Order: sequence, then C-alpha cells, then structure tokens
Amino acid sequence: MNILGIETSCDETAAAVVKDGREVIANVVYTQIPLHQPYGGVVPELASRAHIEKISEVVKTAIAAFKEAEPAGKIDAVAVTYGPGLSPALIVGLNAAKGLAASLKVPLIAINHIEAHLHTPFLYDRGDDAAKLAPDPSTVEPALGLAISGGHTNWFEVPHYGEYRTIGQTLDDAAGEAFDKAAKLLGLGYPGGPKIDKIAREFHSRSHCDRAPLVPFPKGRPREGVSALAGLPAELCVSFSGLKTALLRYVQEHPDHDLELTVTSYQEAIVQAVADRTRTALRRGDYRALLLGGGVSLNSRVREVLGEVCAKAKIPLLMAKPKYCGDNGAMIAGLAYYRRNLMGEAAMNVDVHPSLEVG
Ligand code: KG4
Ligand code: ZN
Repeated sequence: MNILGIETSCDETAAAVVKDGREVIANVVYTQIPLHQPYGGVVPELASRAHIEKISEVVKTAIAAFKEAEPAGKIDAVAVTYGPGLSPALIVGLNAAKGLAASLKVPLIAINHIEAHLHTPFLYDRGDDAAKLAPDPSTVEPALGLAISGGHTNWFEVPHYGEYRTIGQTLDDAAGEAFDKAAKLLGLGYPGGPKIDKIAREFHSRSHCDRAPLVPFPKGRPREGVSALAGLPAELCVSFSGLKTALLRYVQEHPDHDLELTVTSYQEAIVQAVADRTRTALRRGDYRALLLGGGVSLNSRVREVLGEVCAKAKIPLLMAKPKYCGDNGAMIAGLAYYRRNLMGEAAMNVDVHPSLEVG
C-alpha cells in the first residue's frame, strides 16, 4: 500500500510516498529556515505564505519521484498532519491533501504530528538493508516513546503500536525551544539547537585537563503538586522556563563568561533533565524499547546519554536516520499505514487542530 504524506505544521513544506508504512520511496522537504532566520524564530504568517507558494511543487516532485521508482505504482491513500502546529501553516497542507485525495479518488487519513515523530525510527529508504534497521513495530510493544522537538517534549506509553498515552511532558518550553531561546539570547542565530550542539561538541573534544567544571544550571525538575502538571507525575515532567532565566542571570552576572563553557553547561542541563525523566519512566514500566523522535533527537549529546540510559536498562534505543529526525512527510505517510482512526469522510471533515494532544 503506497501512502502519500503531506506535512506543513511549522516551517517545512514536505511530501513523501511510503510503501507499507516503512519503505520510503520518495521524500521531498523544502525548509523555510532561511526565511525565518532574520527574525530569530518562525513567523506564522510568513510560514503560511511560503507553504502556499511551495506545496504544489513539493507534492508534484514527490509524486514524480515515486512514478520514476515505480512506473506502474499507484497512490492508495493521502495522509496529512492536522495538528498540533501553527494554524495558518496546517491549513495549507490539510486543504492541499483534501483536494488531492478527492481528485485521486483515494481515502484521506488525518495524522497527529507528534505521534508521527515517534514512527521515524521505523522508516528506511528503498535499497537500505531493512533488517539492519529498526525491528517491526509489533515486536517492541510495549514501548516508551520520547518526542523532543521545537514544539514538544513528551513521554508516551505505546502499549500496542499506533496507540499512545502521555505519561510525562514539559510544563512550559519544549527542549528545542529551550535551545532556540538560549541561542537567541547569546546571539548565536536560529535554529539554536544545531549551533549549541556544535559548540558543545568542540568543548567536549578538548582535552579534559584544560576544561573548567560545568556551570550548575537547574535541571528542570517541576515541584510536586503544581497545577500545570495536570495530574501527571512531577518525576516524569520537565520545566525549562527557569533554566532560560538562570542562563540570562548568569550571562548578566558574568559578562566575560566563556561562551563554550556556558553553552555546554546549558545543553547538559537539558540533556540530563531529559535523561533523568526517561530513566524514571523506564523504571516505572516494563518497556521493550525506547522510540526517540523529533528535531532535538539529532543532538549528539542527547543520543549519547540516552544510549547509555538504554544500555543500562538493557533495551534498544530506536532512533531515526538523521534526515527523518526533523519534520518530513515520510513520518506522516508511514504512521498512516498503522493508525487510521481518522480516515475517509471523518478525515475530509476534520479541521486543523493547533493544540492537538496525543492519544
Ligand atoms: O522536529 P522539528 O524539526 O520541528 C518541530 O516539530 O518542532 O524540531 C526542530 C527543533 C528546533 O528547536 C531545533 O533547534 C532543534 O529541533 N534541533 C536541535 C538539533 N537539531 C535541531 N536541537 C539540539 N541539537 C541539535 N543538533
Ligand atoms: Zn516536528
């Protein structure tokens, strides 16, 4: 079954064709990062306009690549992100997908963007040795999922593949947002995550003897009983807004601070917060794998530390290929094969859902 997936929830206009939920036949991502760079973050109206300008070209290119790979192949369904994300951006993809499904006379499947990030470890490209990549989703049930991106930091239980239950989350900023805001404050540019990652890698590669101890930034542990927890356990949640304030205070009080040291310490606070909650979640449940997805899962220190956490828990850490960590259409098309709770007429009638929750 070939599904065409469309994604426009934030600053990537993307489309892909995926066979049977895992084999990516075509994948096209047009990123708007240069457009938003001068503003230090995504501007929703600019994003929407750029999606409108690019969507039909991106979809046509994906279909052409699919036809080239499979001249006799047929698109069996169209899948699309309907939330969460920026409303004016989501609308562009949803409308394009509804139109395409109607004209191709195939069903539409509406997909949750965060859930789709957790599907990325199962994607492989045509020609890859699939056996060397992730196992079949059904073999890792129950799994723990961790989606860390610019908009989300959520821990999920995946009892059966395609079923999701939130068990922990951020109470304020997402991990990627914490990276981006720090980079903005330090004048490093947008998006901040890759820049901070690179600086910290350089710091870590320096010899141990000429390294100063890290700045002890707060590790984002929320207080028990605060209403923002909304019934979730504090030990499975994070709060990054205090970390950002601590960074601001630190640079104001230390005008001659060592940028590499500051940035590495800040990254370490985020990584250790994420690792600590993951460790706790693994202790509380009997999981067979950790599924990791989202832009921040590209971070080298996140990968290293979560790798150690999983090794200790004796479970595999399942991560996507780097090109599927950021937003893309393949994760939408892939998950749609497994998760069809909103399909056909129900999907045709669905509206965008900017603050869609998981589950
Ligand atoms: O998943 P994504 O492409 O979009 C959302 O759904 O939000 O994630 C984008 C986020 C940005 O905040 C970006 O700074 C962060 O992922 N990011 C990273 C790295 N690469 C991208 N954060 C830390 N380290 C990285 N190497
Ligand atoms: Zn995303």
